Amino acid sequence: MSDKTYTLTSPEGKSIELPVRQPVLGQDCIEIKNVAGEFGAFTYDPGYAATGSCTSEITYIDGSAGKLLYRGYTIEDLCANSSFLEVCYLLLNGELPNQEEKTKFETCVQNHTMIHENLKNFFQGFRYDAHPMAMLLGVVGSLSSFYHDETDITDPESRNLFAARMIAKIPTIAAAAFKRNIGQPFIYPQNNLDYASNFLNMLFAVPAEEYEVNPVAAKALDVLFILHADHEQNASTSTVRLAGSAGTNPYAAIAAGIATLWGPSHGGANEAVLNQLEMIGDMSQAEKYINKAKDRNDPFRLMGFGHRVYKNFDPRAKVIRSYCHEVLNDLGINDPMLDLAMKLEETALNDDYFAEKKLYPNVDFYSGIIYKALGIPTNMFTVLFAVARTVGWVAHWQEMMADKEMRIGRPRQVYAGPEERPYVPVEKR
Ligand code: ACO
Repeated sequence: MSDKTYTLTSPEGKSIELPVRQPVLGQDCIEIKNVAGEFGAFTYDPGYAATGSCTSEITYIDGSAGKLLYRGYTIEDLCANSSFLEVCYLLLNGELPNQEEKTKFETCVQNHTMIHENLKNFFQGFRYDAHPMAMLLGVVGSLSSFYHDETDITDPESRNLFAARMIAKIPTIAAAAFKRNIGQPFIYPQNNLDYASNFLNMLFAVPAEEYEVNPVAAKALDVLFILHADHEQNASTSTVRLAGSAGTNPYAAIAAGIATLWGPSHGGANEAVLNQLEMIGDMSQAEKYINKAKDRNDPFRLMGFGHRVYKNFDPRAKVIRSYCHEVLNDLGINDPMLDLAMKLEETALNDDYFAEKKLYPNVDFYSGIIYKALGIPTNMFTVLFAVARTVGWVAHWQEMMADKEMRIGRPRQVYAGPEERPYVPVEKR
């Protein structure tokens, strides 16, 4: 808490001092938790753009500088030097692991990669054309039935076991959803492979043939996983915290996060970007669609542009943009969608509308292009986002469970419905 205070004065002249919570980095935070009690009025903030719901030590974003830090390390440094599992350890524990801790953590995750055989049967219940996000959501939710009684959310050991299980099993479930979708048999995890390679193997291997994971593809996926691992209080993470704040089974809380991530304004944007690029078709149409995006009377938005927090280039987009070219070159792929994406990017970045509204490409503008180059179908893009973000959700859930200030999340509302009125019998309505 800092010495600073803000003063809130009512129209009647009543004043209260509001204390300031000084973050390590970032803007002052005015504490309003006593406003309703002391002042008899509450605050309104749709979309929570000006509301902090917790104190967190995990991730810091500076939206105007285009900066993203995990536990103090820049995303650029981590992508250049770390592996996804090392970043998972960092997010969960606050520090990078030494060699012994790293090996122990990796072995622990590897020991939990398999899913219960009965869980495989769940996939058979879905319709033949079920969206893999719908399957992921349902099957992760069902983990709560496999690990309900033994998950003691008050016990740190039990919470760590949940964390390892969740991070280990999410790629297996995601790959199973994909295999179910394309009618191929599930491929069991291979614990001798690293996290990204194992995932690619489960996606693309078939029992009938040898399959060798391409190391370029595995490296690109590992970097994408690091970039998507956490993003502080975004909609899906806030959902996990909100669900978790009620003391629910943590696997169910993660399923709630997956549900939120699916939306096209959030994780679903990477799928929407590729669909939109395909709809636009070729470069001759770029100008037309940029104009549609600028037209206030047209609901069309350029998917992959704009961000609630970044009012500058999304730092994740910068990393991924350079990878995009590298991966496509290494894999020998010449994708006209990338040319179209570059044309849209260039046109938008030079346009006054996008400049004035500070709309820059976000991470999803490029991630879909890499996923496509890796042979991953569009409807799996958000699933891959969920695989990467699982560690962020788990880290925030862990942090919240250990937080002494934790209370059930319960926002207020401005009631705009009818005043109290008498019941009217059906024959008189
Ligand atoms: N194309 C055209 N105009 C846009 C776009 C866009 N992609 N994004 C925002 N705008 C305009 C809005 O029309 C609005 O204009 P107005 O002030 O004239 O009304 C203004 O910019 C502000 O937009 P808001 O929707 O109020 O901004 P908000 O912060 O609430 O939304 C969001 C951010 C949802 C990401 C938005 O920019 C968007 O819909 N982008 C496209 C979807 C997308 O790429 N989502 C991925 C986000 S990243 C992630 O989840 C990993």
